Amino acid sequence: MLCVSRGLYGLALLSLLSLESLAVSSVGPSNSSSSFCTESRECLQFDLICRTHEYEVRHYSSSRWVSTDAEAYFLGVGAAMAFRRLYHYISGANEEGVKFEMTAPVLVEVPEEVKMWEPAIYTLSFLLPSAYQERPPTPTNDKLYFTDMPDMDVYVRSYGGWMLSITSRLHAHLLNRALTRAGARYNHTHHYAVGYDSPLKLLNRHNEVWYVVEGEPVCGSDPTDAP
Ligand SMILES: *[C@@H]1O[C@H](CO)[C@@H](O)[C@H](O)[C@H]1NC(C)=O
Ligand SMILES: *[C@@H]1O[C@H](CO)[C@@H](O)[C@H](O)[C@H]1NC(C)=O
Repeated sequence: MLCVSRGLYGLALLSLLSLESLAVSSVGPSNSSSSFCTESRECLQFDLICRTHEYEVRHYSSSRWVSTDAEAYFLGVGAAMAFRRLYHYISGANEEGVKFEMTAPVLVEVPEEVKMWEPAIYTLSFLLPSAYQERPPTPTNDKLYFTDMPDMDVYVRSYGGWMLSITSRLHAHLLNRALTRAGARYNHTHHYAVGYDSPLKLLNRHNEVWYVVEGEPVCGSDPTDAP
């Protein structure tokens, strides 16, 4: 009896450990992921599936984020408020009172169908560091919640400069056009505006726009496009 329960305990521990290592593998040191994720100690890790001259296809493992919604006419205004809320959380506004460094990237979920005369709901998310992927501190602000991003493939277009709602929509539109030309299927309800740099960085800024792949990813028909 003792043996059985000890065995079960071992099993539970084993599955807990493997869960933990799964989550940890999606968030890692910035030096192992990419040339553009340089400002934070930890970044979201990915596998490059293929690249065309217009976009990349990447695979991301599941990951956990802390999120908050902003209702706004323009990405800028609502995003600044939501950003401050998330920043407070990582600066100790949580029940455990723990502080941790920001990771990269910051995600903004942008709805595609917005009416000019109605505010849209944008969702901002900070990636939880590997140490808090499994057991994140409890937020004290009830406007914060956790988002589990599933294992997914995304179409990515990168651009430099500042991420404003107008540039973000422009690059979403350009990616959208390239994907339509390639016959790629993706979720049209929203895209992600993805930022890697703090506002203090002035040069070599890196931003991205993502669409979530539906079905098999399409990498273009030109064989020289392969990585
Ligand atoms: C990244 O940094 C960590 C810790 O500083 C080090 O152990 C690891 O070897 C580095 N990885 C690469 C690919 O440079
Ligand atoms: C597209 O994304 C939305 C929002 O995450 C989701 O509700 C919807 O089911 C997705 N559509 C498909 C076809 O997966």
